[in-house]
Amino acid sequence: MATKSKRSSKRVAESFDLNIWVDRQARAVNQALDKSLPKAKAKPATMHEAMRYSLFAGGKRMRPALVLAAAEACGGEWDSAMPLACAVECIHTYSLIHDDLPAMDNDDFRRGKPTNHKVFGEGIAVLAGDALLTQAFEIAAQCRSWPRYSHRDIVLEIAKASGSLQLIAGQVADLEGEGKSLSVPQLRYIHERKTSALLCCSTRLGGMSANCTPRQLEALTEFGYNVGLAFQVIDDILDVTATTEELGKTAGKDLTAQKATYPAIVGLPKSRKIAQQLTDTAFAALKVFRGKAEALEALADYLLKRKN
Ligand code: IPE
Ligand code: IPE
Ligand code: MG
Ligand code: MG
Ligand code: MG
Repeated sequence: MATKSKRSSKRVAESFDLNIWVDRQARAVNQALDKSLPKAKAKPATMHEAMRYSLFAGGKRMRPALVLAAAEACGGEWDSAMPLACAVECIHTYSLIHDDLPAMDNDDFRRGKPTNHKVFGEGIAVLAGDALLTQAFEIAAQCRSWPRYSHRDIVLEIAKASGSLQLIAGQVADLEGEGKSLSVPQLRYIHERKTSALLCCSTRLGGMSANCTPRQLEALTEFGYNVGLAFQVIDDILDVTATTEELGKTAGKDLTAQKATYPAIVGLPKSRKIAQQLTDTAFAALKVFRGKAEALEALADYLLKRKN
């Protein structure tokens, strides 16, 4: 975890300590995830060990954090939001297991450990990803519904963000973009889908779990969309500027794979500026919460400055 000074800025309330908030949040999410998944020894044990291996390998838990922070901004409780926080983390982890496969980005390290297919083999890794994706819907189906948002709304939200028009569409375009010189709008199309869609879904689900008003949902959508875009710009920058040890995943992979990235297309200084502008836009969307979105503000600031 970064130090407090790295996570504070003039825009974020002095009294709010993101380190404490994130640690408490990650502990609660890890506990809830542990309860939501079949035990490691449940048959077929290989599958449940593989699912748990990647899920508990040490991710930053930023999507669950966005769910819980958005719920807080709307006056909601963590308990109501927690199943949705777990669901998005299961989707995210599945997407990483598949993203790392030899047929995709062919990565050997993830979350500071050998990738799922390196430990369990490709067949089990494909199935562990499938199982985590399915697990997300099992968890979401068990959550309560709210006066403004039904089960149908919640399930649709998750299905759409992770389906073939969003997350998958982004992954397809990312693969098809390898070795090509894409335009900035083409790159943005990829980032909107492969990354921003699930982050935006996370903030929206958090709001929905607090029975948020339509105006609040609109603000959370604008916030999540922009933070989501900034997140992937930073991921592209870190691939160039950080080390494998810092990242817990192989640095410099994008260049080797000839991926379309912001640093490759517009250079590092402009990429940093774009990430800053997107974060500014995200911040502006939080005005409607009149200071009650402290955790979201602090997270946006941290995600811009993060080192891994
Ligand atoms: C990595 O996501 C994949 C992207 C969408 C850029 P994270 O940086 O959130 O990965 P973990 O969850 O911390 O491992
Ligand atoms: C991954 O993007 C996006 C998804 C998994 C949906 P990247 O391929 O850039 O993520 P890393 O760098 O491997 O974490
Ligand atoms: Mg990828
Ligand atoms: Mg990758
Ligand atoms: Mg990357």
